[in-house]
Formats: sequence, C-alpha cells, structure tokens
Amino acid sequence: MSAPATPRTFKIAAVPADGVGREVVAAGQAVLDALAKASADAFAFDWTEFPWGCDYYLKTGRMMDEDGLDVLQNFDAIYFGAVGWPSVPDHISLWGLRLKICQTFDQWANVRPVHFHPGITSPLRKADDTPLDWVVVRENSEGEYAGLGGRNLSGRGPGNEVAVQTALFTEQGCERIMRFAFDLARTRPRQKVSSVTKSNAQQYGMVLWDETFTRVAKDYPDVETESVLVDAMAAKFVLKPEDLSVVVASNLNADILSDLGSALAGSLGLAASANLNPERRFPSMFEPVHGSAPDIAGQGKANPIGAIGSAALMLDHFGLTAEADRVRKAIEAATAGGVLTPDVGGTASTQQVVDAVIDSLV
Ligand code: NAI
Ligand code: MG
Repeated sequence: MSAPATPRTFKIAAVPADGVGREVVAAGQAVLDALAKASADAFAFDWTEFPWGCDYYLKTGRMMDEDGLDVLQNFDAIYFGAVGWPSVPDHISLWGLRLKICQTFDQWANVRPVHFHPGITSPLRKADDTPLDWVVVRENSEGEYAGLGGRNLSGRGPGNEVAVQTALFTEQGCERIMRFAFDLARTRPRQKVSSVTKSNAQQYGMVLWDETFTRVAKDYPDVETESVLVDAMAAKFVLKPEDLSVVVASNLNADILSDLGSALAGSLGLAASANLNPERRFPSMFEPVHGSAPDIAGQGKANPIGAIGSAALMLDHFGLTAEADRVRKAIEAATAGGVLTPDVGGTASTQQVVDAVIDSLV
C-alpha cells in the first residue's frame, strides 16, 4: 500500500493588525482553507497569527516584537490586513509595522491590479460597456517613502520648525521596477507599459526615472510605451482607462493612483495587492490596498474582496495559478450573483460574501 502523498504545506504568517484588517484577513483565511480542503490534500496552509498592531503598541510600546522580522523571515509569505488606528499617530503605526516589513524584506515590487467585477456598478459610466482591467506596478522601496529627512529648529520657538522630506531615486531602483513592469506587460493581452512621471517639476529624481524608462524600453521593442505626467494620468484613469495595461509609478504616485483605480472599480474594499521580493530572498507580503477603515470596523460589513483577491495573488506567487484563477472566478460569481457589501451598494455581510465565494469554489 502506498503512503498518502504528503501535502505541500505553505507556512503563512497572518498579521491582521487593526480595524477591518482583522475581519478581512479572517475572510481570506477561510477562503484559502476551503480551497486547500477541496484540493484533496494536494496542498495545505499552516497559519501562525501575530497580534501586532496599534493595541499591541499601546500595551508594549512597540508595533511588533523586537525579533519580529527574524521570526517572519522563516515564513513562505505574510498575509497582512491593515495597520492604523486613531489611538496611535499614523506615521508611527505605518513605519513600525507595514513599511518596516516592506523595506527590510526588500519587497520592491508592489503589484496592484485594478479589476472591474461583474455586478458592481462603477461610478465610471464608460465601465458599462468597455472591458477594463489594468495593473498598477508601484516602486515600493524608495522614492517619496524612502524615509529620508528630519525635523529641526524647533528651538527657535513656536512657528519656526522646519522639516525636510527627501525623495530618493536610484538608477537601480528605477530599472528593476521598470523591467518588472515590462515583463508583466508581456504576459498580458495588451503589451503596453505607461510610465508615470512628474519630470517637468521634479527635475532630478523624475528625470532619472524618465531616462531609465527610455533605456529599459529599448530591451522590450515588442512592448508599447508611453510616459504620462501624474496629473494627466489621474485624468486618464477616468477618461481613457481602456488605453491602460501596466502602469509603472513611483511609491507615492502609485499609492494615490491605485486608490483612484479601486474607487473607479467601485470601492477601496475591492483592491488587492502583492508586495513582492522578486528574488525570493525574503518572504513577500499580500494585503488589500485599503486601510483599517475605523468608520466601519467591527460591524461585520467590511468588503473582503480586496483581501481575498490578495490571497489569490499569494497563490500565484506559490505557483498555484490554476487555484488562484479559481478564487478569482469564485469572487466574480459572488459579485455577479449580487452578494455585495454596503460599500458596493448591497446589504450582505462580510461573512455572506465569504460564504458565497466558498460556495462557488467547491
Ligand atoms: P481606509 O482605506 O481605511 O478607508 C477609506 C474609506 O474606504 C473609508 O470610508 C472606509 O470605510 C472605506 N473602506 C476601506 N476598506 C474597506 C473595506 N474593506 N470595505 C468597505 N469599505 C472600505 O483609509 P483611511 O481612512 O485613510 O485610513 C484609516 C487608517 O488606515 C489610517 O490609520 C491609515 O494610516 C491606515 N492605512 C493603512 C494602510 C495599510 O495598512 N496598508 C493603507 C491605508 C491606510
Ligand atoms: Mg494607499
């Protein structure tokens, strides 16, 4: 008698953190566990949950354990909720947990698909009949969020303090995210990369960004390109989104544009994201784009689709692409069937959406 095949087990660190982060991480875990159960033991997920976040900070003075990064290093991936709560200043909570993980683990590519779901009304009238689907590729390690700068001169008395916040653009940082964007474009139906810039006003960093884009593009003659100023790109998201496939942008610009993209698709609660360390020297981290939503937290009505979509991106990262597609199709079936949370015009609870997704998975 042959022994049963050992399931491929993925060790995942769950960091729900704050507010709706806890509700949507639980939702994504339920979907992944249902998927594993249905896989006839082909794979399994071994979860370890960490209590880090703003409550933890209020108790311990730290957003995460002192050796937290060493502990996380041993996982195959991190599944993250959202960090931030009115009890702790946002720059402390964000830098103490999410940005600390992203930066230390060199998760330099942040992939944020903008996806329009059937059954969800977009505020964009064009979305009625134009197929829309694009990906924001965010430089996730430097740019405007490099954390460089300081505050000084408060000793001169009230009203005299100064602050410097410097953006950092390295040629290597620009090049690696642009190559990532071009490689991604080659896998998509429309092979096009749009670079987002502001080199008219930011004549050092953004000019280096533009020059690197022109140079890298030469290695991808089969991929269409365009370079668009960030303000014009914001308008293009609304007026001509059918012309987009992969949009590559610096840390801040992509952060703003990806919220715009998810709002156009119907809600911030829909948008998924992957913080990737493409070399796989460190674990990558998967999280919805949205924050902790204190206005709706604890009411059981957070939209779990962004978090479930992020779980699908994690499956892609593990090489389980057929399973990832299954999860995405199950999300579509739930939205097309009208099982919608209040942010997208429905009355369903988080749990009802999870149940609908699981029902069409198995
Ligand atoms: P937010 O994304 O938490 O909320 C913005 C709006 O979108 C709110 O009206 C909220 O109800 C709605 N929303 C967000 N997620 C939703 C979901 N799953 N379902 C339905 N509606 C949803 O952004 P906000 O209010 O600017 O920030 C709140 C806190 O989150 C702050 O402390 C901020 O620093 C933090 N934050 C953390 C992020 C992260 O951990 N990656 C990202 C963005 C913000
Ligand atoms: Mg954001």
